[in-house]
Amino acid sequence: MTAPVAVIGSGIAGLVTALALAPLPVVLITREGPGEAGSTALAQGGIAAALGPGDDPAQHLEDTLRAGAGLCDPAVAGGILREAPGAIAFLERHGVRFDRDGSGALVFGLEAAHGQSRILHAAGDGAGAEICRALVAAVRACPSVELLPGCEIRRLVLRDGRVAGVLTGRGQVLPVLGAVMATGGIGGLYEATTNPAASCGQGAMIAARAGASLADMEFVQFHPTALALGQGRLPLISEAVRGEGAVLIDQRGERFLAGQPGADLAPRDIVARAIHSRIEAGGRVFLDARGIGPRFASRFPAIAALCHAAGIDPVRQPIPVRPAAHYHMGGIWTDPCGRSTIEGLWAVGECAATGLHGANRLASNSLPEAVVMGLRAARDIAERGGNPRLPGPVSDQPPPAADLARLRRIVSAELGILRDGDGLRRAVGQLVPMAQAGADAASAALCIAVFAALRRESRGAHCRVDFPEAQATALRRRLTLGQVFAAA
Ligand code: SIN
Repeated sequence: MTAPVAVIGSGIAGLVTALALAPLPVVLITREGPGEAGSTALAQGGIAAALGPGDDPAQHLEDTLRAGAGLCDPAVAGGILREAPGAIAFLERHGVRFDRDGSGALVFGLEAAHGQSRILHAAGDGAGAEICRALVAAVRACPSVELLPGCEIRRLVLRDGRVAGVLTGRGQVLPVLGAVMATGGIGGLYEATTNPAASCGQGAMIAARAGASLADMEFVQFHPTALALGQGRLPLISEAVRGEGAVLIDQRGERFLAGQPGADLAPRDIVARAIHSRIEAGGRVFLDARGIGPRFASRFPAIAALCHAAGIDPVRQPIPVRPAAHYHMGGIWTDPCGRSTIEGLWAVGECAATGLHGANRLASNSLPEAVVMGLRAARDIAERGGNPRLPGPVSDQPPPAADLARLRRIVSAELGILRDGDGLRRAVGQLVPMAQAGADAASAALCIAVFAALRRESRGAHCRVDFPEAQATALRRRLTLGQVFAAA
């Protein structure tokens, strides 16, 4: 019997990879039930693809490169965005129902920094939930996929430099043909995030401990408009709401972005910094969606429900908002097929750094990337085949749990929207012993701090108040975990 491919994580990237690998046997390992633990189901705005009238992948690429502030890999980005329309076709073939108008044509929303309305949505503002519903049903019906829910992996087991097995949290070594990390991001390292609180970069660190190179770890995107309900996991108020005409105002009712390039639909990093600086100065910021009127409830049913649950009527009252950690542009370095630097290990979705997003991801570009890279990785695995090796015995030492409350305080204070050298040095000093103790979440935080300290410039989402300018040449950085500890 052929050893299966382990797909670790069941957001959109893991689900697509598992389906596309058929008929190769797959074991889909998920922390909770499939589609339940990750960020995909929370996605509101939708999925970007150049499918609308007057649009084309070249314009989509232009917007992506501009938002990415010089750090995108143009060849990689161009290739992924050209394949985005095919990604939509794949999702539709697997049962995803995108919103269409009365004549049956797809309808497109607008989001920040897009020059065209090119965001496909589903159930108004429930694209992620709809994608998960359809793909989970497809995976459950797929005979080549075995589900392993309620299971975490502790480490990758290598034999002759190649992934030969995965050690599960149950202490069992599963022999595998290869492994695909699809484990999502790092928002849970921050006190305020739109991500599930458990998303703390564990997958990227398991890959890094096995020797995989990491890239772009300093680039953390803060979504400008989470519902301001304090800290922890905050509900998102999609950028699509601004795409439909809502505007940002301060406590005096002033539209503080009017007159700036792009105004309320400027790239996310710019809008997040403008809101952050107002809140730091003691002000409050609101999203004023009253102009959308009663249509709000049908266009944004999930957001309307979130607001009502918080005692806010978005048709009559401005919605209090604040930035929150949202998306990690960095992660496990991969080539255009999704291969990491370790034989037999691929990475797809948010935990991977392909070069598409650069220093600041363009809104709704994460879902098309996840589908395209899942399809590519599956094709690559099938083409390469492989010669599974039996994993040798492993000593099973469960990693210590991080003190997450302390970790989040450090990360939020020093690795947030504005950074400086002193704060980064303080963060590194505190994080090194926590990471040396072996906790994956602490290692992920240390990687962000070290990459941020090494980048002595401001670019996209990485803003150093002590180095406010961008350097003339944009360079992506790639380090192993050993190199991160050496630089700390
Ligand atoms: C949003 O709906 O504003 C979020 C979309 C994204 O993060 O791409």
